[in-house]
Amino acid sequence: MQIRCTINQKRYDVECEADQRVLDVLRTLGMHSVKEGCGEGECGACSIFFNGKLVNACLLLAPQMQDAEILTLEGLQKETETIRRNFVEAGAVQCGFCTPGFVMRAHDYITHNGSQKITDIKASLDGNLCRCTGYQKIAEAIAKSMP
Ligand code: FES
Ligand code: FES
Repeated sequence: MQIRCTINQKRYDVECEADQRVLDVLRTLGMHSVKEGCGEGECGACSIFFNGKLVNACLLLAPQMQDAEILTLEGLQKETETIRRNFVEAGAVQCGFCTPGFVMRAHDYITHNGSQKITDIKASLDGNLCRCTGYQKIAEAIAKSMP
C-alpha cells in the first residue's frame, strides 16, 4: 500500500505493508534515531512526535501514517541542541541507545513548561528506560536545559 505523510517537514509517499509498524517504516527511510528496544511500548526508545503528540512508534501501524505529521529527532536537531549538549556534559549518555528517546521526552517536557524540580522531572521519565546511567544525571541534564 502507499501512504502519504509528512516526516520532518518533508512530504513522503511511502510504499509499505499494512502490518508494518511505524518504527520499521521510519527506520527503513533512514530515521535511525528511532530505536527498537522492547517493541512493546515500555522503553520509549522509539519515541516520535505524531501529530504533535509524543508516542511510541512500535505501537503504531503503517496505515495510521496516512496524512500524519511526524517528527523524529533527525528533524529536531536545532530545537534539541541545548538538551543534547547538556546530556553529554552531565554524563547522561553511556551506550547512547536510549538517548534519542530521552531527548524527545525532555523536549516534550520542556515545551510543555514542566517543573524544574528533579523529582518531577524523574516522574516524567516514567515511560523511558535506561540500563546504563540511572536517571539522576538525565534529570539533571533536563533541568539544566530549561529556560
Ligand atoms: S521499542 Fe517502542 S517503547 Fe520500546
Ligand atoms: S545510556 Fe545505555 S541504555 Fe541508557
